[in-house]
Amino acid sequence: MLKQENIGHSRFPHDQYWPPVNAVNEFSFTLNELLACNMGEITNQLNDIIVAKNNEELVNKYLAEIYSLYYGYKDAPRLDFWEKPEVFSRIEFVKLTLEDYLINSFLKSRYELPEISCVAQVGDYLRFFVEHNYGVNHAFFDFVADEMPEQQIKEFLLLEVIRNEVVDDEVALMVPGLQHSMKQVVVSNLWDECGNGAIDNFHTNWLRRLLTAHDDWSNILEYRAGQKPWIASISSNSFNAVLTTRFKCYRAYGHFMTTEAWVAPHFKKILQGMDRVGINDQNVRVYFDAHMRIDPHHADEMIEGLLKNTPELAQVVLYDIIKGAHQAAMAGEVMYDKLLEYFRGNEH
Ligand SMILES: [Fe+2]
Ligand SMILES: [Fe+2]
Repeated sequence: MLKQENIGHSRFPHDQYWPPVNAVNEFSFTLNELLACNMGEITNQLNDIIVAKNNEELVNKYLAEIYSLYYGYKDAPRLDFWEKPEVFSRIEFVKLTLEDYLINSFLKSRYELPEISCVAQVGDYLRFFVEHNYGVNHAFFDFVADEMPEQQIKEFLLLEVIRNEVVDDEVALMVPGLQHSMKQVVVSNLWDECGNGAIDNFHTNWLRRLLTAHDDWSNILEYRAGQKPWIASISSNSFNAVLTTRFKCYRAYGHFMTTEAWVAPHFKKILQGMDRVGINDQNVRVYFDAHMRIDPHHADEMIEGLLKNTPELAQVVLYDIIKGAHQAAMAGEVMYDKLLEYFRGNEH
């Protein structure tokens, strides 16, 4: 229970809307046009513009736009039009078709499913997997630690803010469908995301402090409307694909387990990069410093939560968790490959 005097209390200004997104009334022109078609035409058009051209960029751009509707912030188009069942069913159809393409074509897994016969084996497998997949020591983070120039580090920090700006909501979306110890660890994770009840310790408040320290509040709005590379949406789109489809709640659990385990090795390199270029402000570093301590626990708790779940999880569920873990590893690997290329290509 919260103390009355703590409700709404903060030492920091909160006059800026969170997450730092631009208000929009409509989807982009081409997505609007697509959604105006009937189902048959939508299928043909998706085949023409996505499948035939292998258009990874468009898949990711459209999905990022569509997911805004599933969160409801001010970047979600608010036209009565979308409330009509026949229109919203087209949105869902496009979403599911694009997700299928994202997961089964662009993020096609390099990892084989293991033979499993009991939950303890799955725990051992995942404990090893989250520490030894290709994303853990990805070369992108060596580049951040050792070479990335200061200006690029500041740009990458904006991308990190965007990637993490609604992690609390993402964790909240993981709760329905879980029971017993798995629900226990996810709800505990959400309570941590929400500062154990203190607004100043909301993890998103640490991102606010980063933006304020770098005077980036208007820059981030311009950046996401203009130069932000679409490749930076890949891992969020992959996670949202399992979060926003309720029967995939166990995949979401496995997905998040992988990325929580990445936080410490990745953030360590980001902090090294900041040390190298002299970004010492605690307001900028607090998000990364704090997560170095918190997230290894979160990853461990998630494995413990599935081991202790009662009744014991069915094999199909255990495979779903593993598939989710694999999907996250692929999404991160693909995204960090592209980010490395992007930042190296933009070096001056
Ligand atoms: Fe967090
Ligand atoms: Fe976490």
